[in-house]
Amino acid sequence: MKPLIRNTITVAAVIMAVAVVSTPAQSAPPADWSKIPAKTVKLFYPGQSSYQWLRSPAHKRAQKKTAQGDSCVSCHEDEEQEIGELIVSGKRLEPHPIASKQAVINLAVQAAHDSDNLYLRFQWKTRNPYPGTAHPHWIYNGKTWEVIGWPRLHKKVWGEGQPAIYEDRLSMMIDDGSVPMFAELGCWLTCHVGMRDMQNLAKTDDVKSHPLLGKVLHKKDVRKYLPASRIGKKPTWRKTKSAEDIAKVKASGGFVDLMQFRAHRSRPSGMADDGYVLQYRLFDAGNKVYGKNWDKAAKQPKYMFDEKTVGFKSRTMAGIRDTSKPSSLVAEENAVPFDPKAGWKKGDMIPEYYVSRVGAKGSAADNGNVIGTWKDGMWTVLWTRKLDTGHPEDDKIMKAGGVYTFGFAVHDDNITTRGHHVSWPMSIGIGVNADIAAVKLN
Ligand code: HEC
Repeated sequence: MKPLIRNTITVAAVIMAVAVVSTPAQSAPPADWSKIPAKTVKLFYPGQSSYQWLRSPAHKRAQKKTAQGDSCVSCHEDEEQEIGELIVSGKRLEPHPIASKQAVINLAVQAAHDSDNLYLRFQWKTRNPYPGTAHPHWIYNGKTWEVIGWPRLHKKVWGEGQPAIYEDRLSMMIDDGSVPMFAELGCWLTCHVGMRDMQNLAKTDDVKSHPLLGKVLHKKDVRKYLPASRIGKKPTWRKTKSAEDIAKVKASGGFVDLMQFRAHRSRPSGMADDGYVLQYRLFDAGNKVYGKNWDKAAKQPKYMFDEKTVGFKSRTMAGIRDTSKPSSLVAEENAVPFDPKAGWKKGDMIPEYYVSRVGAKGSAADNGNVIGTWKDGMWTVLWTRKLDTGHPEDDKIMKAGGVYTFGFAVHDDNITTRGHHVSWPMSIGIGVNADIAAVKLN
């Protein structure tokens, strides 16, 4: 257990130091969370229930009302279990049902606030008897390093029997009322055909040659976007507004805040990432907490584990879920520059990404106090989010007395893209009544 404990203490010490320097003494999370009411939010498996599907005749008797902006819960209240079961079983909206996938994940949410921060505590049970702290790796094949590990919805896993390896995550989207229909449709406003693992997947070459997504943003696939970034009433991934028009929507707050606690790529640094959704799912300005562990020119990893600190340079498949040892490469803690002459053997594995709290900068580094621990089959994530991050250009600024729309998602059991469980949109009131009322501290 030594490295893990040391890791936790390092992060806690950094956070305490930051707290002491930058905020007054009364700004602190609840000393006793058992006094804060917990709301159980039922997250269900959404399959391919895209924005476009919801507006199609396949969404029986609901297509018109959904297009008019009636909220999902106005018709589907308490139907999470039922809908989840239809979809995980493959009866509806799911071309690749995953064996033993749960229909619903119960996410316990507690919320409190003071004048500086919103404090959220999340708890949920994992499908597996281990935390998803592993992520794809580079594996040495005797000559070169290649990727090993994919999410369960990837054809390499369901079609070719390759190993499913992907981190657990807890995500949230936030809006302050600036994005039309987010309060009613929540995450479904961002989820469209053409995206990865959705119907009518966009072709790589078409995305690469797209004047905005390919030529300006350098993307190869389509990810979440908001209808307000597209031309016309029937948004498609291709019909993007001009960069100037999108900038105007953004400047008026017409984006959704999106942030993710990542068990492999942010947790070891005591952080979550920080992004937003508008014309694409993008990261905030600055540097995010993780980076690709790959030296393109040399075609080899940038870092390997520091043997002096952790006792190994690399691992093998048998070791990547050993929770008594660090699972992530942390640039400032346990990593050293990769040595191509270290006597690599076939099957040696090094993480595909590294993590760095020191390297995280600017608005992308706003979630600097997010602590995740997994014990007895359950994740507990303590999240401190500044009400006002100081970055209104890509964050939603909250105020005491305000009510905001949140959408929650959990990625469980080696999954990405739409393989998560999601919530209906819900409101959080900062000290005022809402679906979840954040309790005022002091
Ligand atoms: C006007 C009422 C209404 C609204 C609003 C509505 N739905 Fe539906 N939804 C339905 C009905 C009716 C069905 C079909 C049930 C059936 O076929 O038995 C359905 C089916 C579904 C299904 C497929 C599972 C199933 O039970 O067949 C999903 C997923 C779904 N809706 C998601 C949503 C989401 C997400 C929203 C909000 C963006 C939404 N719905 C808004 C009425 C509604």
